[in-house]
Amino acid sequence: MRLLLIITGGIAAYKTPELVRRLREGGVDVTCVLTRAAKRFVTPLTLSAVSEQPVYSDLWDLKDEREMGHIRLSREADAILVAPASATFLAQMAGGLAPDLASAILLAADKPAILAPAMNHRMWRHPATVRNLASLRGDGHTVLEPDVGPMACGEYGPGRMPDIPTLIAAVQPARPLTGLHALITNGPTIEALDPVRYLSNHSSGKQGWAIAKTLAAAGAQVTLVSGPTGLAPPPGVTQIDVLSATDMLAACTQALPAHILVCAAAVADYAPAKVAAEKMKRDGGDLTLKLHPNPDILKMLCAHDQRPRLTIGFAAETGDLQARAIDKRAAKGCDWLLANDVGARPEIFGGDQNQILFLSDKKPERWPLQSKAAVAHALGQKIIDHFAP
Ligand code: PMT
Repeated sequence: MRLLLIITGGIAAYKTPELVRRLREGGVDVTCVLTRAAKRFVTPLTLSAVSEQPVYSDLWDLKDEREMGHIRLSREADAILVAPASATFLAQMAGGLAPDLASAILLAADKPAILAPAMNHRMWRHPATVRNLASLRGDGHTVLEPDVGPMACGEYGPGRMPDIPTLIAAVQPARPLTGLHALITNGPTIEALDPVRYLSNHSSGKQGWAIAKTLAAAGAQVTLVSGPTGLAPPPGVTQIDVLSATDMLAACTQALPAHILVCAAAVADYAPAKVAAEKMKRDGGDLTLKLHPNPDILKMLCAHDQRPRLTIGFAAETGDLQARAIDKRAAKGCDWLLANDVGARPEIFGGDQNQILFLSDKKPERWPLQSKAAVAHALGQKIIDHFAP
């Protein structure tokens, strides 16, 4: 997750390096923007050191604007937090003024911000501040309640910046799959012919990897059983590397129980009946290979006594997509099936995009051609809806 943290002028700004440090520990990338007044309470150098990112503050800095213009700063962030948000800054924002980088970012932003006010308790209760906050809420911004307590000025009341755990909870996306275990197969399998040769296919593992990343970000515990793809596991995902279909089945059975199963792997349907102990020699004539069928992992896990509550398969077809996919879903016994026509679009194997026909017990859905990350998000959302209380 990428957070844009806008720091305005208030004594609570001294707490922001600790806030950035704690956010980063939770896997959030933070880019800081300071107003001129904020620089009196915290230095750009400190924030740059803890965020490991450049810190921005000047709308008129040509180098900053070229490197990361104010439009891009807000567009590239998943969320914007203003902490501390001073009374002056909130008034400026409510009035739609943009005299500096921080306020220009907010005026140009394509998403509402989370505001963490911090000010003297009389400023907090002042009718002008109350009006400004009502107007900002009306614009869709989230206003966090300030804490009540002793103030830097010696007075007591509401107006202290909410504490760090409250700020962290406010910016982190919901994790609706927390407590669920997702088991995902991915990539190709390779079936040895001899010590140096094998049978395999062109699966890159990009689709299953994107699904693992999405489900982990939604809070699931994810086990990714992967054939050789060369991809490092996404953050927070446990990857078990395997070679053959038999290894993949063993790793999957060992990873049970799981609540969700997604079989995105392109498992070789057949393996050589015998693996030659030495490199096979060329004798000039034809070579006939005897192949034995591999275990059908998806089918076996769907019939397993520890069958996951939601089982999802893929189907790579080279024609008659819908009819074959409907038959395949029934034959495998899975709940949902994502069919891709790799005959019409062979580049789905290895490429960055996929086009899915989604089958469940409801009406088939044709998804548009989209990135594999977008397919993963669409599937992730369906899984979240399925498990929603
Ligand atoms: O890896 P990428 O380059 O990103 O490409 C993505 C993909 C094309 C590999 C992916 O979108 C996909 O379609 N995966 C399934 C490919 C496949 O093997 O389809 P299938 O129709 O042969 O198998 C149907 C289902 O049974 C699949 O869920 C498969 O994982 C599973 N299966 C198949 C055979 C077998 N022995 N065991 C299985 O579990």
